[in-house]
Amino acid sequence: MGSFFYFYTMINVLFVCLGNICRSPLAEGIFSKLITENKLTHFIQCDSAGVASYHVGELADKRTRANAQSHGIDLTHRARAFVKADFLNFDYIIAMDKSNLEHIIKIKTANSNAEILLMREFDNNLIGADVPDPYYGNENDFENVFQILTNSCNEFLNTLNKK
Ligand code: 4NP
Repeated sequence: MGSFFYFYTMINVLFVCLGNICRSPLAEGIFSKLITENKLTHFIQCDSAGVASYHVGELADKRTRANAQSHGIDLTHRARAFVKADFLNFDYIIAMDKSNLEHIIKIKTANSNAEILLMREFDNNLIGADVPDPYYGNENDFENVFQILTNSCNEFLNTLNKK
């Protein structure tokens, strides 16, 4: 982790899914843990949001929280909707699937310099795939999402470090 020393401003990362109660809060929790473990809290911060507002104000889904807890991650995020100000406040906006990505690109404001990316562009096991929505799934589906997000977040951090 050498090159972060040369950043003078904070890198802001926003993870986005549909409801902001399953995938993106978990990505936020995993990436936050990586930031802390790598002593990068002065250089990188992250948040998450949903393109839909059904669950605004709620904690992450209890199955997501149980899965995160089993990996030593405490999720305290409250769901919020993605807003246009996010285009200005974040350097990287990372969508969990192509539907989320299309939604974000469609409402993108002209004055935004944010890089809008798909989470699994960073998953060497299946580059460019969607992070599957586990909402109607079982415990295994939540664990599968955890593994996908862990791989993807590690590789995303490696990519930032090479910049
Ligand atoms: P997420 O999962 O987008 O990963 O938070 C979902 C959460 C809620 C719903 C759909 C997906 N829902 O239809 O309420």
